[in-house]
Amino acid sequence: MKRTETTEKQPTATVDKKPTGKSREYKVNIMVKKLLVWALMMSAVLVNVAFAVTVGELRCEYLRDPLGLDVVKPRFSWILQSNQRNEVQKAYRVIVASSPGLLAKDQGDLWDSGKVLSDESAQVEYGGRSLTSRQSCWWKVRVWNRVGHASPWSDPARWEMGLLKPEDWQAKWIDAPLTAVPPESSHEVAAKEGSTPGISGSNQSLPYLRKDFTLSKGVAKARLYVTALGLYEIHLNGQRVGDHIFAPDWTDYNKRVRYQVYDVTSLVKSGDNTLGTFVGNGWYSGHIGNGGFQAWGKKPALFAQLEVTALDGSVDRIVTDASWKIHAGPILSSDMMMGESYDAQKEITGWDQPGLDTRDWSNASERAEADRPLDGQIDQPVRKTGELHPNSISEPKPGHWTFDLGQNMVGFVRLKVSAPAGTKIQLRHAEMLNTDGTIYTANLRGAPSIDTYICKGGGVELWQPRFTFHGFRYVELTGLPQAPGKEAVTGIVVGTDIPRTGQFSCSNPDINKLQSNIQWGMRGNYLSVPTDCPQRDERMGWMGDAQVFIRTAAFNGDIASFFTKWLVDVDDAQNAYGEFTNVSPSPVGKGNGDGVAPAWGDAGVICPWTIYLMYGDKRILEQHLAAMTRWVDWCREHSTNLIRDHDRGHDYGDWLSQGENTQKELIGTAFFAYSTSIVAKACHITGNDAAAGKYQQLFEQIKAAFNQRYVQADGHIQNATQTDYCMALKFNLLPDDLRVKAAQYLADDVVDHKNHLTTGFIGVSYLLPALCSEDQVDTAYRVFLQDTFPSWLFSVKKGATTIWERWDGWTPNRGFQNPGMNSFNHYSLGSCGEWMFDTVAGIGLDPDHPGFKHIIIRPRPGGNLTSAECSYASIHGLISTKWILKNGNFSLNVTIPPNTTATIELPTENLASVEERAGKVATDPGIHPAENVKGNAQYEIGSGTYNFTCKVVLNGAQTNTISLKNIPYLGKSYDVQTAPGSAVLTDDGKVVLEAKGK
Ligand code: BGC
Repeated sequence: MKRTETTEKQPTATVDKKPTGKSREYKVNIMVKKLLVWALMMSAVLVNVAFAVTVGELRCEYLRDPLGLDVVKPRFSWILQSNQRNEVQKAYRVIVASSPGLLAKDQGDLWDSGKVLSDESAQVEYGGRSLTSRQSCWWKVRVWNRVGHASPWSDPARWEMGLLKPEDWQAKWIDAPLTAVPPESSHEVAAKEGSTPGISGSNQSLPYLRKDFTLSKGVAKARLYVTALGLYEIHLNGQRVGDHIFAPDWTDYNKRVRYQVYDVTSLVKSGDNTLGTFVGNGWYSGHIGNGGFQAWGKKPALFAQLEVTALDGSVDRIVTDASWKIHAGPILSSDMMMGESYDAQKEITGWDQPGLDTRDWSNASERAEADRPLDGQIDQPVRKTGELHPNSISEPKPGHWTFDLGQNMVGFVRLKVSAPAGTKIQLRHAEMLNTDGTIYTANLRGAPSIDTYICKGGGVELWQPRFTFHGFRYVELTGLPQAPGKEAVTGIVVGTDIPRTGQFSCSNPDINKLQSNIQWGMRGNYLSVPTDCPQRDERMGWMGDAQVFIRTAAFNGDIASFFTKWLVDVDDAQNAYGEFTNVSPSPVGKGNGDGVAPAWGDAGVICPWTIYLMYGDKRILEQHLAAMTRWVDWCREHSTNLIRDHDRGHDYGDWLSQGENTQKELIGTAFFAYSTSIVAKACHITGNDAAAGKYQQLFEQIKAAFNQRYVQADGHIQNATQTDYCMALKFNLLPDDLRVKAAQYLADDVVDHKNHLTTGFIGVSYLLPALCSEDQVDTAYRVFLQDTFPSWLFSVKKGATTIWERWDGWTPNRGFQNPGMNSFNHYSLGSCGEWMFDTVAGIGLDPDHPGFKHIIIRPRPGGNLTSAECSYASIHGLISTKWILKNGNFSLNVTIPPNTTATIELPTENLASVEERAGKVATDPGIHPAENVKGNAQYEIGSGTYNFTCKVVLNGAQTNTISLKNIPYLGKSYDVQTAPGSAVLTDDGKVVLEAKGK
């Protein structure tokens, strides 16, 4: 509940009357008074220092100072800083003004929230005057802390509204027609080299487009609103505008196109100006996954509107129309899969600057386009996010120079060469090498990924492609007359510029490498949409992959706005009956032609729910609840007695599982139940309890059907696989009294496989959480730390720098897996990252207090790990943990941000041994009563930094049961009681009991 006080209370001034007369008494009085005043001032200072709270990191719709918002009630968040423990926000006041000047005078002409008694510091909705197109908004916030002290005002932040109504646009779509196919296309070259493009037709050169215009008045403000069907790069007076790569974002272009807004005030001037652009095919008219070509249109088009406000307030609009000029440009061909070819000899100097003789340029053509919503950009754009320099160069074949960047990455190469005019340099990209040191390209399938540059001569030339990207670690350069140096190649890493929020490291370097591989996998595959692989001819928004990895992604990066955007694409792809698709955006005639697979379609429910949990974002549920509900209803209609026994499309099952086939019908039914339970909760949270009751009841009915069909009385699941138990435990499909047994069966199965997993994409994300949910922590660590095939660490041991698509992408015995499907950069199997954050390091979510408003700190040390350290920049601030286990002592350093609380659970039942900053915790008023919860010491704490230590029981009082199954020479199973830490179960099933055990 929040309460608003309309006026902020001002401190009342008191006036002291001076006594007359100059007696000694008077002097003493004066002195005493001065001292008192001084003492009062000092105590005020001390109080202020003691309770100092400040506010920062202001964000609007998850973004810092966004331009072009079309959200009419934007939401704010801010973060409190305090040097005090137990700090909370008791109230806030937000002021939104139409100018920085008014804001500085505390005049919220757009909105003044007044002092609102509330502890909300995230998802606070704007409640002021209706916002109009182009509205500039400046805002700041102050808060009151737990003792009622006000913070200073935050630094100002801002946002600006986009163009909200169709009539705001005067621009016309103009064609970027394609000229002749160059004689030697990269496609043909690729075919010669033995790759199999299998598709053709995108090698058409791309023109320059330009517009000269004159401004007669001084410029006060200029905004460029621009988008394309395809991709654009726009320049103004010789300078590139913005740093977006591959703008606009990929959407279903038939449903909506997203536009970008740039502040170009400093680039335009009174007098002559020129706008110039390159326009590329991109996803719109180039190749996309699985042989798709020109899925939305045959050629790209540009749509731009420059609005220049003069000092006198008048506005000039320069828009795309038939007055723009067009000329063949240096980009001979460009395609996401094929690569890009560029002839620098065809560059026109000054093409993007005033004063060019354009007599041989033609007029552009306007193009009639169906009306479609133009929506503002709501997520971080794709940008350059890093540079990599080669470790080494080799020459496996004469003239074939192979650069090793040391890291599988996504992006392209910046080439730096010096060669005579007409020298044709070719860059080929690969993730791996063949045994002879040449690049391995078979797994690229129909994505030749070849860039070609033709030199203009005359000195050092720098070039990088504009509208293509590749997945690679190795670059082969050919065509140079002399041996290149390392500086010839720089890897430009690109991807959606998602702010990094999570760091994790521990005492095991292989696990640290795994964490790095997870982050690199996300970095490359979160490119405009969550994709599956950046190297082969696929790169689609596969829904199954997106949902299994989203929880890991949300720890590692701030994905809120990325998913806010993509979930609109997911809804856009849903058909009228409620069926989601396997991929989103769904190209015309693709993706939804053959029905949708369980666990893939369910991404439309699981992803919004995860964003709600991680960021406390209720609006995402409100926005998608109708689509989520339609999907569950569709599943019900396509079931027999609530069993999903038909209409599962091209069902992928537990994709890429190892030797075990989980029944597809069971997976379908389990996910139907899970999505239904989420819909029930989402209905409740969004205030529709009647619907919540209905879906909760449906969930119970599906659960009953599931149990009746698949679960035996003793908790065994029919033909059980690890994935079966994972889903049953994670989706709460079992009666409570069977959970412990089911977890034991799951653990037994892991042991039966000599501590290996058998799960594929779907089961893998639940394996470690499911084991730990019923205290099979030891088994979880054994499978997590496993390094023989199949396991997470197998690829790490084989030198992987990203997560592989397959557990056995490459093995010493067999070499490469089937090149038909063998990506070395596929994030799905990295979904164990969530468990690393919330269980190994112990930063856990409390679903009843989403957005980490209340945090569960519950590190669970295990395996051979002696320490772990992790931080997560939540929407409420930075949470961190660091634990060390040494000689039976466990220390935990933990930071909880202001305005949040936490439950801490230490892995000891020896409550008396627990200390905080070397003092007994019982004496600290901020640390609330200890409880022994299932053998762990539990405390409630407020914000601040704490340093706990305790004794952990390594042997003695507690015992573990280890099941010895099917001992070969006895042919029997035994249960052995051991002290924790005193028994080790080895890979080949042997139990080694250590002497220190009982
Ligand atoms: C993709 C996967 C995807 C799958 C569907 C593959 O080709 O790379 O990641 O989920 O198809 O089974």
